[in-house]
Amino acid sequence: MSSSPVRKPSESRLELRLNGELREVPRAPKRKLVEVLRIELGLTGTKFGCGEGACGACTVLIDGRPVEACQTFIEEVEGRSVTTVEGLSVGGKLNAVQRAFADLGSFQCGFCTPGMVVRATALLQINPHPTPAQIREAMEGSLCRCGGYRRILGAIERAAENGGTR
Ligand code: FES
Ligand code: FES
Repeated sequence: MSSSPVRKPSESRLELRLNGELREVPRAPKRKLVEVLRIELGLTGTKFGCGEGACGACTVLIDGRPVEACQTFIEEVEGRSVTTVEGLSVGGKLNAVQRAFADLGSFQCGFCTPGMVVRATALLQINPHPTPAQIREAMEGSLCRCGGYRRILGAIERAAENGGTR
């Protein structure tokens, strides 16, 4: 009589909730989240800039909080919820922050934009009506080489006026 193999939890893979869906990825001790997102999962909206946690281009949400994916090992997100810029849309539509960035043309090269949008979305989720000073403080971790801060801050104020993140 042959016995059917019992499926054991994999030691070589780990599970996370990515943009609302359960995903398995290889467990790799030194692998950074930004590499897994961009190279293995094709989510290239998360940008790789400085690689040192200084520019914010790689910002994603981990359990709703903005975190630099270049400073996060993949094993740190096991069992946690990760949201990238691709996962911010609501019902297939851009969220209010994304719409405001587009409507106000709040980018030049656009390289910083996904991280900015992710960070601003996190802010408006916990503080739907921030003051300009609170917006500037919350966005300090995201740098724009093109220097378009005025329009970026304007877009976040517009998104707040339009209902936060929806
Ligand atoms: Fe991660 Fe700059 S690439 S903070
Ligand atoms: Fe170019 Fe921000 S729009 S880095």
